[in-house]
Amino acid sequence: MIGSKNFLRFTFAIVFLWGGGKDLFAQQHTPALIPAPRMVKSEQGTFRFTGSTLIRTDAGPSPAVDYFIKQLLQRNFNNQVVAGGNAGGSPEIFITSAGAAQLPAEGYSLRIEQQGITLIGKDAGLFYGLQTLLQLMDASTGDTAALPCLRIEDAPRFGYRGLMLDVSRHFFTVQQVKDLLDLMAYYKLNRFHWHLTDDQGWRVEIKRYPQLTDVGAWRVPRIDFSGNTLPPQPGEPATDGGFYTQEEIKDIVRYAAARHIEILPEIDVPGHSMAAIASCPWLCVTGDTSIKVNPGSSFAKWFTTGGFEMYVDNSLNPVQESTYTFLDGVFTEIAALFPYPYIHIGGDECYKGFWEKDKRVQQFMRQHRLKDAHALQAWFITRLNKIITSKGKKMIAWDEAATGGMKEPITIMNRFGEKEAVTQLKKGMQIILAPGGNGLYFDYAQSASDQEPASHGGDAPAWKAYAFDPLYPALSAREHAAILGVEGCVWTEHIPDVSKLQYMLLPRMLALAETGWTDLAAKNYSRFADTALPMHLARFDRLGMNYRVPTGFSYTDTTITTASYHFEIAQPPVPGAKVYFTLNNRPPGDYDHRYQAPLTIPVPKGKTITLKTVVITPAGHRSIITKTVLTNPEK
Ligand code: ACM
Repeated sequence: MIGSKNFLRFTFAIVFLWGGGKDLFAQQHTPALIPAPRMVKSEQGTFRFTGSTLIRTDAGPSPAVDYFIKQLLQRNFNNQVVAGGNAGGSPEIFITSAGAAQLPAEGYSLRIEQQGITLIGKDAGLFYGLQTLLQLMDASTGDTAALPCLRIEDAPRFGYRGLMLDVSRHFFTVQQVKDLLDLMAYYKLNRFHWHLTDDQGWRVEIKRYPQLTDVGAWRVPRIDFSGNTLPPQPGEPATDGGFYTQEEIKDIVRYAAARHIEILPEIDVPGHSMAAIASCPWLCVTGDTSIKVNPGSSFAKWFTTGGFEMYVDNSLNPVQESTYTFLDGVFTEIAALFPYPYIHIGGDECYKGFWEKDKRVQQFMRQHRLKDAHALQAWFITRLNKIITSKGKKMIAWDEAATGGMKEPITIMNRFGEKEAVTQLKKGMQIILAPGGNGLYFDYAQSASDQEPASHGGDAPAWKAYAFDPLYPALSAREHAAILGVEGCVWTEHIPDVSKLQYMLLPRMLALAETGWTDLAAKNYSRFADTALPMHLARFDRLGMNYRVPTGFSYTDTTITTASYHFEIAQPPVPGAKVYFTLNNRPPGDYDHRYQAPLTIPVPKGKTITLKTVVITPAGHRSIITKTVLTNPEK
């Protein structure tokens, strides 16, 4: 029987052979940390961590240390924690707050020596230092983790490192949300933006308006979100959905806090409100009582110019007092549930066609000298901002909230990118950057291949999220200071379950983590993708998680004119993965040619050979199939 340690060595041998040995030193000495720390200095030797390594702390009772111990237990290490100063005796992990006051916000200092480990940090910084230790242990496996001797000085580039989950289009349970928070914490993401309401479901209990979840959390069952999906039929029971009770929300808020994650709740108004309107039809100008929670069927026409027309009224009535009474009630409860100082009110894609046709709205606009429906929306946002402020909170909203003559200094969640960011910053607003065009919309496909699973379209490979630099160079230092950070958005129209969620998140959430955390000087895509990422993907493989397996090539579909093709794959994207290929245009599987070493494929005159490859990981996850058409036009 091969022991786990031998197996590990065997796996490393393959990795090194595959790379032709050229990066042997780099692979041994660059720890597979994501996000990459600000400064790492490798030193000689290793510290051998076992379940009997003592953990000593002078930092007092600490949730971060408790969390670390729980994480160690999950890895079958049952370590003892003792309070006190460093005794300097047996090998141990010494956690200290001495010197932590001088560290940058959320920063930590870690030193691994053969005789012991010292971690300096407090609060979030201490927590992140322990996450770094866990990642170093996970890059090594078995009962004894051989941690490389090194020094790390680390702190984040941005204070806001967010991930948004849309639980309206598909509902995710309390446990599934907690699992996501664990994954975020491991990668030092610290803001969970929870998109709690939309046309397809209202997911948070509001005690003043129980109908919001009695009615608004449920829709008729359908399989796919698509133009061909059947709309709700008369009398059809709404059985699909779910919501979080206020007790569950409080539980999740506590769970997140223990992981140094703040939760930003979003109640999306005045548009995207069909679930609220299905519950309370008096909320919209049409008062249409036939409106149902949308089950993923089409209710709008989208124009290539960017505009849209809705057939079903999903906008709140901005000109009646009862709308603001409702919003005051909802946000009173939301403000009490979530301790984070900000509340997101949506503000995106509000259809104004029903407003424009309504006589009361027309009269209101004349009375308040509002020149168009955009100005009316700005009036609505301004009024809502007073409500949010009266609860002791600050408003965040999507790009549209910065338009229509909006003057209040709210914070914008920017999904449109640089041009709008510059305008928003010039207006004195703070912004968080989540531009879909820069790879931060994780509902977009991860390559241009038609084999990617159902998505919202677009092309958002991990490298795009990695390459994105939110500090646009044309801006001043003061404007840079108003850029709070970055966020990746998971819209779930095409994400019905955790397996697909993991596939769409991984690995690009890791690229986001590095964009949010790592200083430009320490960022290096090749280190990320070729050296660090494979170890993380191998961990997902071991844990039975889903993820997008990188292909053996950086491209997925290409044509090459040649008489002789040099076929080489630099290294398997996951340690232990196998690459199979065909030369006959058939989809390759584990019964086809196995790639072992670089080879030459001759292409005779006048012939075309179609090379297809697939990567299959130890757990059996498969990459999409790449297609390389080799053609020799010579006669
Ligand atoms: C959005 O993508 N509608 C926020």
